[in-house]
Amino acid sequence: MPTLVVKNRQGTEMRVDAQSGISIMENIRDLDASVDAICGGLCSCATCHVFIAPDWRERLPSRSAEETMLLENSGSFDPEGSRLSCQILVTEALDGLSLEVAPSDF
Ligand code: FES
Repeated sequence: MPTLVVKNRQGTEMRVDAQSGISIMENIRDLDASVDAICGGLCSCATCHVFIAPDWRERLPSRSAEETMLLENSGSFDPEGSRLSCQILVTEALDGLSLEVAPSDF
């Protein structure tokens, strides 16, 4: 079972035993002060925005054009580290992945 290291919107870091085969968003949305994920993973709301730690960015699948377009509308968009957590499936290879929940745009 892969472990994700998640810093929530209050700055609290948590280690999360994640389920493979579902998205990062689905694994972290029930944590305190975590992503809102209003659209439920349909890549249409950007409320699942997270920042991926630098040493993990290259190990993830690339952003789609649709994902990038949504993220660019966020006030806290980071061209290097921003991802929609609903667009990344958790696998064993992501064991130890470190990320931070982005501030809310609302
Ligand atoms: S949950 Fe809406 S874009 Fe990810």
